[in-house]
Amino acid sequence: MKKQIIKQTMLFCVAGLVAISAYAQHNDTSQNQSSEEQIESILSRLTLEEKIAMTHAQSKFSSPGVKRLGIPEFWTTDGPHGVRPEVLWDEWDQAGWTNDSCVAFPALTCLAATWNPDMALLYGKSIGEEARYRKKDVLLGPGVNIYRTPLNGRNFEYMGEDPYLTSKMVVPYIQGVQQNGVAACVKHYALNNQEINRHTTNVIVDDRALYEIYLPAFKAAVQEGKAWAIMGSYNLYQNQHGCHNQRLLNDILKGEWGFDGVVISDWGGTHDTEEAIRNGLDMEFGSWTNGLSDGTSNAYDNYYLANPYLKLIKEGKVGTEELDDKVRRILRLAFRTTMNRNKPYGSLCSEEHYEAARRIGEEGIVLLQNNGNLLPLDLNKMKRIAVIGENAIKMMTVGGGSSSLKVQHEISPLEGIRRRIGDKAEVVYARGYVGDPSGEYNGVKSGQDLTDNRTPEELIAEAVKVAKEADCVIFIGGLNKSSGQDCEDSDRKSLNLSYGQDKLIAALAEVNKNIVVVNISGNAIAMPWVKDVSAIVQAWFLGSEAGNSIAAVLMGDVNPSGKLPFTFPASLEDVGAHKLGEYPGVMRTDGSNIWDVKYNEGIFVGYRWADKEKTTPLFPFGHGLSYTTFAYGKAVVDKTTFKSDETLTVTVPITNTGKREGAEVVQLYIRDVKSALPRPVKELKGFKKIRLMSGETCEVTFTIDKEALSYFDDTRHEWVAEPGKFEAIIAASAIDVRSKVTFTLSDNH
Ligand code: BGC
Repeated sequence: MKKQIIKQTMLFCVAGLVAISAYAQHNDTSQNQSSEEQIESILSRLTLEEKIAMTHAQSKFSSPGVKRLGIPEFWTTDGPHGVRPEVLWDEWDQAGWTNDSCVAFPALTCLAATWNPDMALLYGKSIGEEARYRKKDVLLGPGVNIYRTPLNGRNFEYMGEDPYLTSKMVVPYIQGVQQNGVAACVKHYALNNQEINRHTTNVIVDDRALYEIYLPAFKAAVQEGKAWAIMGSYNLYQNQHGCHNQRLLNDILKGEWGFDGVVISDWGGTHDTEEAIRNGLDMEFGSWTNGLSDGTSNAYDNYYLANPYLKLIKEGKVGTEELDDKVRRILRLAFRTTMNRNKPYGSLCSEEHYEAARRIGEEGIVLLQNNGNLLPLDLNKMKRIAVIGENAIKMMTVGGGSSSLKVQHEISPLEGIRRRIGDKAEVVYARGYVGDPSGEYNGVKSGQDLTDNRTPEELIAEAVKVAKEADCVIFIGGLNKSSGQDCEDSDRKSLNLSYGQDKLIAALAEVNKNIVVVNISGNAIAMPWVKDVSAIVQAWFLGSEAGNSIAAVLMGDVNPSGKLPFTFPASLEDVGAHKLGEYPGVMRTDGSNIWDVKYNEGIFVGYRWADKEKTTPLFPFGHGLSYTTFAYGKAVVDKTTFKSDETLTVTVPITNTGKREGAEVVQLYIRDVKSALPRPVKELKGFKKIRLMSGETCEVTFTIDKEALSYFDDTRHEWVAEPGKFEAIIAASAIDVRSKVTFTLSDNH
């Protein structure tokens, strides 16, 4: 049977050799060996120039294959929330295609807030299908950099502050994408935790924080998700850029983790030929551009891994061993993507993709506060509803940097609310403030004209009047995707909202006590008005279906079940990176323009810092309310002592004690009661999202192994689980502990 198919395949292929291997790779793992042999065979037939050509870009988003052998070129695309529209071959301007509009999925922050790996699989599968349909081979995403400071302009593209949650969510995303024969390119490896000075920041971090906080999601992506590509980061670590970094790429990624895929540079992240040759970079993209706007002429032959590389080899200054390794990896990527003959066709803007975007949005929206149970809104009691705020009408899929999209459609919150309410109540809109009236990124125009020349006072007066006359107020504001907000290449200046929103909310609260604040952002914000408003909803950047998802939660068609993937601190002082003063870093005085940023807080990031410092966050990591209530029973362990080669289970009964069905994220944190090295008070080591009908009970069981108890011992350079007492903490958020049970690890081998 196998022989027959191979024979048939040969009839159709141009480069028969290549097609057989591609077929074998995806049909029978026992054939992997033979595809590796095929790679060697192809390698032996490539000229030096052909090999060099494969290691760098030929256009803004593509790199060449080998025409002579029928090996196709690679097409990459952003990522990570939808498939980026086409730009010109060698310019950032729009190509002006009419068939490249996509579905925008909710930002990854929202995906993380679902705490549901099934949603991550659905997300990956859906965006992978869109990428495949658009004939892309590499999707530049997902992003898994850890949320170190709420000022980082790119946090919205990542999955929050916790390495365990991020790891669990990134794996299915990758699997979903790669099912389509499209490579996920996980970014930005590593330590890219701020945008300010992103090309010149040198991160100084201890090994415990590196291994325990900043690397686990990348490791899971590689070892469990089997990612086929990784993107090097812009910043430096140990004085070398992330894209050609001996320790990060050679020692850890390819050495310790055994990564067999391709390291792709971030766009314009390559800075040195010799380092790029030796320190693990496989494909160079975007050089002589800042990744976004500069660099319009064809510089490809002058790329660090182009003519300069060839010259060094020809002069005998470097050998070809590294080049062969790069090309082997690139050919492996080809077998997995471009030459994979079994990949599906994909689809673009399908009903299923819109449904996926809507569902993920609905599951990721977090109900932060619901005083007096104002939500869900009872339309029977309301004649007039005021919707106030710029984010109610602003398109949020355009902007933000490389993740900006051209969408087939985007439902604004106001439109979603109006559609849902229909004629059951009157919906009156007032702008309230003017934030960013522009609506263009990289030539994609939102088509909205949000210019409003009224003064702030006039806008507030109108909004207050509308609020006064309404039965309830839905304020929809927050951040947006313009520079200095949630946007690439810039950080926010403060935790507070801009454009006078705090003043406006306070004024609205004075005239109407039924206020819901819907905050659209990918970052924590300060809420000086938290006690003055009834309900607060964290709504993220939700993509094409934003308005429908928000309306479904506000009206109660959907019971909210999202939980925060990061802490909302009460102030910046309560964030380790800020408290210890090393943000955004210290500029060197040697004229190098390098900024050293010491991660003085070490492993104490997010709730780990809040726990250690005993600060009370505005809203904690893992927090999220529901329209029903859940009672947690007593947690029990199946044994009180276990050995490191065994596992132990913790079981806890959960009951839906409210009147409607709903979903709860049950969280397991582990506390090491006594350890040789300082450890966080507790760390997330398990979570399960369960859906229960009213009155229903279920038992949630977590399995704990040695890994869940370990810390990274930087002197021994290994993970260590010390014998002794531990606590399994069952919680509904990082500060809402419901049950604890103690157990003992009896050995350390
Ligand atoms: C960003 C990457 C992106 C690349 C290509 C860079 O500026 O940092 O995340 O994938 O551009 O657009």
